[in-house]
Amino acid sequence: MAFKAFCLGLLCALFAFCIYTPIPSNIEEYWKVTAIDISAKTGTFMAMCLETIGIIKYEKFISMILRLDYTQPVSDEYVTVMDTEFVGIPVRLYLPKSKSETPRRAVIYIHGGVFCLGSFKFRALDALNRWTAKKLDAVVVGVDYRLAPQYKFPVPYEDCFTVVKYFLQDEILTKYGVDPTRICIAGDSSGANLAAGIIQQVQNDLEFKHKVKIQALIYPSLQILDLYLPSHQENEHGIILTKDLALKLTSLYFTEDETFPQAMRRNEHMPLESRHLFKFVNWSTLLPEKFRKDYVYTEPILGRYNYSLPGLMDIRVSPLLANDSWLQNLPRTYILTCQYDLVRDDGLMYVSRLQNVGVPVTHEHIENGIHAALSLIASPLYLQLGLRMRDMYISWLDKNL
Ligand SMILES: *[C@@H]1O[C@H](CO)[C@@H](O)[C@H](O)[C@H]1NC(C)=O
Ligand SMILES: *[C@@H]1O[C@H](CO)[C@@H](O)[C@H](O)[C@H]1NC(C)=O
Ligand SMILES: *[C@@H]1O[C@H](CO)[C@@H](O)[C@H](O)[C@H]1NC(C)=O
Repeated sequence: MAFKAFCLGLLCALFAFCIYTPIPSNIEEYWKVTAIDISAKTGTFMAMCLETIGIIKYEKFISMILRLDYTQPVSDEYVTVMDTEFVGIPVRLYLPKSKSETPRRAVIYIHGGVFCLGSFKFRALDALNRWTAKKLDAVVVGVDYRLAPQYKFPVPYEDCFTVVKYFLQDEILTKYGVDPTRICIAGDSSGANLAAGIIQQVQNDLEFKHKVKIQALIYPSLQILDLYLPSHQENEHGIILTKDLALKLTSLYFTEDETFPQAMRRNEHMPLESRHLFKFVNWSTLLPEKFRKDYVYTEPILGRYNYSLPGLMDIRVSPLLANDSWLQNLPRTYILTCQYDLVRDDGLMYVSRLQNVGVPVTHEHIENGIHAALSLIASPLYLQLGLRMRDMYISWLDKNL
């Protein structure tokens, strides 16, 4: 058995080596990134093999590997760390230990993982949230929402929404010594997708007495209507997050129908009734020239399949679908985008849309940046790029929260 596993591993490594596409030469820590990329691609290929021969589902295998990286809630000199639940949803709280005369700032952080993977327990995320609490003297809440494919849309969204709604109540803010006028919601990748959708709801819903002061979206994914943006074309075989991986996992947020990711790959997954929504994600008008380059805008093919999947046309899945009057009420925003990132153009289009309606936006674009680098900040697997992103995020929070 062990020998067979070894052979399979070897075969996968060999395969990964063969399909390996060289990474751009301006990537810093070139060999480290190459090694991480090869490991990621080997892991996903192995997962694909295991699923094909019927041993274990793709996403189960990957999450089994990632689970090895989970941490316990460990308090330190500065911060009390504890795992608890808000309305039955697991959260990890980081509470600064020092005495404070005035109520504190707070950050609710929603992790990424293409809706299927991830946890606040990851070493890198635990480090990030702990660092945030310490550097900003802020209360930090990490959220472990339920994941696809077991829990499809809208469950992950609603879990996060429930946590935010619970936290924004007067008695809860008072309990944790939080200033209701200084709250941030932040997230990375699909976590930023959830964060952006929830913030739109909170800011526009009269039911919420307390609003969010700022939002921070790190390489966010913000729409699923058009999957043939320039960044999708440039980064199809991108570092860590390839188009295959992204489509496979994203499709599981909606359905386990295996034709769906294939339809997404051909950009033929949207129904006829979605035609009027494409103006909100029209990259030929929303992307800055520098990113449009010579790409030619082609309209997706609509109505080839009649998927009746809840969520396909929902703003809680694609926050870019919000209209201008809805967007106007959004708070000051931080958006970080990376050049070598499949979902780069989602972030860039949101920057344009928010700026068009007068929302103050700080946009930082990292020319040699890669998706998921913020999850690479805990040794031994850390990148200088990840640490720099962390510092950019924290320093923006410190100035604006
Ligand atoms: C997108 O914008 C281009 C012009 O830049 C226009 O020709 C096209 O009709 C638009 N498509 C949609 C669906 O809005
Ligand atoms: C999709 O629905 C439309 C009308 O509801 C129908 O005309 C068309 O044949 C359907 N397409 C498929 C592939 O089932
Ligand atoms: C904007 O979108 C919101 C939420 O989807 C909707 O309630 C509102 O009526 C829309 N406003 C306009 C002017 O279309």
